[in-house]
Amino acid sequence: MSSDVRITASPGGKLCGRVRVPGDKSISHRSIMLGSLADGVTRVSGFLEGEDNLATLEAFRGMGVEIEHLGEGRLVIHGVGMDGLKRPRGSLYLGNSGTSMRLLAGLLSGQSFDLELTGDASLSSRPMRRVTDPLAAMGAHIETTHNGTAPLRLWGGYHLKGIDYVMPVASAQVKSSLLLAGLYARGRTCVTEPAPTRDHTERMLRGFGYAVQRDGDTICLEGGGRLTACDIDVPADISSAAFFLVGAAISPGSELVLEHVGINPTRIGVVNILRAMGADIEIRDERLVGGEPVADLRVRGGKLHGIAIPEDQVPLAIDEFPALFVAAACAEGETVLTGAEELRVKESDRIQAMADGLNVLGIDARSQPDGIVIQGGRLGGGSVDSHGDHRIAMAFAMASLRAGQEIEILDCANVNTSFPGFVSLAEVHGLRLEASTF
Ligand code: S3P
Repeated sequence: MSSDVRITASPGGKLCGRVRVPGDKSISHRSIMLGSLADGVTRVSGFLEGEDNLATLEAFRGMGVEIEHLGEGRLVIHGVGMDGLKRPRGSLYLGNSGTSMRLLAGLLSGQSFDLELTGDASLSSRPMRRVTDPLAAMGAHIETTHNGTAPLRLWGGYHLKGIDYVMPVASAQVKSSLLLAGLYARGRTCVTEPAPTRDHTERMLRGFGYAVQRDGDTICLEGGGRLTACDIDVPADISSAAFFLVGAAISPGSELVLEHVGINPTRIGVVNILRAMGADIEIRDERLVGGEPVADLRVRGGKLHGIAIPEDQVPLAIDEFPALFVAAACAEGETVLTGAEELRVKESDRIQAMADGLNVLGIDARSQPDGIVIQGGRLGGGSVDSHGDHRIAMAFAMASLRAGQEIEILDCANVNTSFPGFVSLAEVHGLRLEASTF
């Protein structure tokens, strides 16, 4: 159990220099999952050593996979092959990590052993039927609580069959869960997405030599194949870079280069939205690293203006809205977000948590069922609650760059789920933060 952490952010400052934020969370999860199921040895560099990814790592160790953690983001995974996982001793505890739980639900539905997946209070309140219903339709024996939440119980030894599934929500976790179950299914599994979502699973499956077809909005694979180990270089996480992009964009005089950032087109919404608001962001030295596009991002501080955020950008920036709401609070005029009800079922209700915190800071932010309306203005100070949500905490830390007074941010221990070292890295580049542990 982590202790409570409070961040006190002093007002003012600017962000300067060159930063490499930690590795991509989504890609790091998938590197463990596919590396474990592969034939041969997978070497990973740039792995995110955050609590969420470590939960995935420990889960696979618990199922008998030898994973050497060499430090500094380097792993050596001794793959056990598609049928090599072993029944863990107890239940698998996945902490705060929705990606671990939803992807593992799929990957483990076709195993020969029973098991239980558990999580912390936040994860245990998030909707799981979005994966368990289609998995059950594939033949999985899987059960949630009567509220449709974790713990999830899975019974082994059942044969899965392929599915043709049209997702009601644009969710990469649901898509990935079904594709991973599809590896174990008889026949073909096809998932149709209502809007493009992050495609790291598809890219990485191909990297491991597994055929995945895309036809328009539909992604398909045949069950029964094998994965061949490969080396993975995880780029810096654009979702972590987003806090620095926003921080630099809102503070005059800032000039920051974010190095080696993953700019997969399914993740690039934050750059598109900030640019539409007038931010000065340059994408430099684009290159392809292990099947994923990577670049350096140069951002300068300046004036932003409010916009109506195009709904097609929502899935492409789904984790970046806490930071983007801070940009909206610092912009001239009104920013309107619609079509983003998914934000209510993330690690916290991100619409309400951000509206409440921005109101404390003196900003007119009105939550809507599917979004928010934010009137740019002067940020004051005060005490805001992150509700144990890493991204809410980091977003309010960045708000201090434009605040008139100190901001105290409560319940910040979970910053470590995605961005270990955030406070010290932010301080080195110009924020004035102090973290206290209780
Ligand atoms: C993720 C998908 C997204 C995102 C999450 C990571 C993934 O969730 O919010 O942080 O790695 O597949 P949804 O698929 O629920 O939108």
